Amino acid sequence: MLILGIVGGEKSLDEGAATLWLNEYNHLASSVYNERVQASWNYYTNLTDHNQHLMVKAELVFSRFEQEAYRNASIFDWKKMNNETIKRLMKTISYMRLPEEEVKQTENLRNRITQVYSTAEVCGDGTDRCLLLEPDLQNKFAESKDWDELSRLWKGWRDETGRKMKSDYEAFVKLQNKAAKLNGFDDNGHRWRAKYETEDFPQLCEKLWNQVSPLYVQLHAYVKRQLKKTYADNIDGFPDGGHIPAHLLGNMWGQTWDNIFDLVVPFPDKQTVDVTSALQQQKYNATAIFRLSEDFFESLGLDPMPEAFWEHSMITRPTDREVVCHASAWDFYNQNDFRIKMCTEVTQESLLTVHHEMGHVHYFIMYKDQPVMFRRGANSGFHEALGDLISMSVVTPKHLQLIGLLEESPEDNETELNFLMKRALERLSFLPFGYLIDQWRWSVFSGETDIDSYNRKWWELRCKYQGISPPVSRSESDFDPGAKFHIPNNTPYIRYFISSVLQYQFQRELCNISGHTGPLHRCDIYGSKEAGTKLRNMLMLGQSKPWPDALEQLTGQREMDATAIIDYFRPLMEWLKEQNAGHDLSWEEECPHGSFTSGSNSLISTMFSLLLPVIYIVLL
Ligand SMILES: *[C@@H]1O[C@H](CO)[C@@H](O)[C@H](O)[C@H]1NC(C)=O
Ligand SMILES: *[C@@H]1O[C@H](CO)[C@@H](O)[C@H](O)[C@H]1NC(C)=O
Ligand SMILES: *[C@@H]1O[C@H](CO)[C@@H](O)[C@H](O)[C@H]1NC(C)=O
Ligand SMILES: [Zn+2]
Repeated sequence: MLILGIVGGEKSLDEGAATLWLNEYNHLASSVYNERVQASWNYYTNLTDHNQHLMVKAELVFSRFEQEAYRNASIFDWKKMNNETIKRLMKTISYMRLPEEEVKQTENLRNRITQVYSTAEVCGDGTDRCLLLEPDLQNKFAESKDWDELSRLWKGWRDETGRKMKSDYEAFVKLQNKAAKLNGFDDNGHRWRAKYETEDFPQLCEKLWNQVSPLYVQLHAYVKRQLKKTYADNIDGFPDGGHIPAHLLGNMWGQTWDNIFDLVVPFPDKQTVDVTSALQQQKYNATAIFRLSEDFFESLGLDPMPEAFWEHSMITRPTDREVVCHASAWDFYNQNDFRIKMCTEVTQESLLTVHHEMGHVHYFIMYKDQPVMFRRGANSGFHEALGDLISMSVVTPKHLQLIGLLEESPEDNETELNFLMKRALERLSFLPFGYLIDQWRWSVFSGETDIDSYNRKWWELRCKYQGISPPVSRSESDFDPGAKFHIPNNTPYIRYFISSVLQYQFQRELCNISGHTGPLHRCDIYGSKEAGTKLRNMLMLGQSKPWPDALEQLTGQREMDATAIIDYFRPLMEWLKEQNAGHDLSWEEECPHGSFTSGSNSLISTMFSLLLPVIYIVLL
């Protein structure tokens, strides 16, 4: 690391010296980052103790490098400089680490909690072997229509995960807050939100949610009625307050609902586009699916994948070693090595995942000439949005026909409504879940919610936003947030909510640019160089500018706006309104009475819930 000869005395305001230092930092950082990524890659694609050891070693080298960079950077009084680029770069470097002992404590806690989560199994219905989340429990939730079985597994998963990590989680929160405060943040939630560079970020999220919630409410009401038909024998299990029991939605967390498509399909006799069998009949393999995706991006004028991508990526499950199959995209920070790790199967779902991951890689390629610290999405939501944006075109019947995966494009309204219902179950159902996870965490980090109300707060949000309630009574001995991967793993989550909004906003604009007319959900931007140029200009910025600049580059707007979601689903919205006419669209904001048992305060809270029945109503 370059050390400047300024010891003690005044901090430097010399922008020339700062630029030199930053260049040197950038040079060193790209090789330190590269080695760190290389070590992780080696472990994730070949799970041996030896490789894990090397990965931890590289992580320590990395963290010492960052700590030293921090000390060096503090020689400069960069906050008082005029050059915005220098200030922005310095800001990303200036993050102080906790003392090494506490860094280790933090890592140990995280590893322990993640371990609890990733080794959890649900046992004990007498006959079966124990069930893992992937694939056993996921398959059960996708396929079973047995109320009691689902309820037992739902509870079992939470007994085996969250319940076993609650106090560790509290300690983990405290350490993270300590690190955040060291750097001038109020708490760790504040630190996470600050990355969005938005005055009142929670308020922005609430605004976006309010734009889409009328559509969610319609979907919720319709799905609930269909579920009541399916589970007519268990009708007493549906709470009076209008919530949907959380175990019936085809997913362990009720976060996406596409697995119950068969229960809610608007026109069961009409076709529903799914190209899995066409892919298999046409003998697609992993390479061919990746080439298909590459071709889409190229049609927009974006770059083909470099040779190194094809040489080094892992796109099928190897047979000679253990690997982490969870799909991911990797930037090696040397401007030519970008990879995907994925155990690709030949299905429609895989086709979409490939596009999602390829989106990340295209972002890497577009911002590769930025300084290392700017090689990020304009915000994390942008990075997640790119590939999903492309998928939106790919799944249109028009496009599937173009690439020979669909014989004739069915164009009647009923088929179209089936298509939109499927998309809504995949994407729209996710929005309140994507929104509430970090609301819970922000509240925990700020101390507003302490360990005595972790679970109560969680269910308050689940009942209020998703309109779902626990199938069995909960208490503070449970810790249901811990049953979702991103809480123990400590991955911020609001990015997926932001991405869900941005991808429609991008799509609406790119469709205009590409000359599309007609309903938004039919738009396919394939082959539009104009759309590609717009996209390219935005992606190239990386994080060198605040996200509103990047958004403006593409859409001409500086504000995120969820109305494109409403535009996309408009025909479905109209249809749902007709179906729901005369039915109750509301659910109570509070969780159903008796779904949560607390300790000594229960009398008081019961009185409150009787006195203040707040009703969540959407006016039509
Ligand atoms: C600001 O700093 C950056 C990087 O240090 C440099 O490339 C750029 O030329 C500077 N801008 C101005 C206006 O001096
Ligand atoms: C996996 O890693 C081990 C080192 O732990 C190495 O000996 C082996 O060759 C690697 N396997 C492959 C296929 O790269
Ligand atoms: C897919 O098939 C092609 C030839 O048809 C072959 O070259 C390629 O290696 C295959 N890819 C995989 C991942 O098996
Ligand atoms: Zn992603």
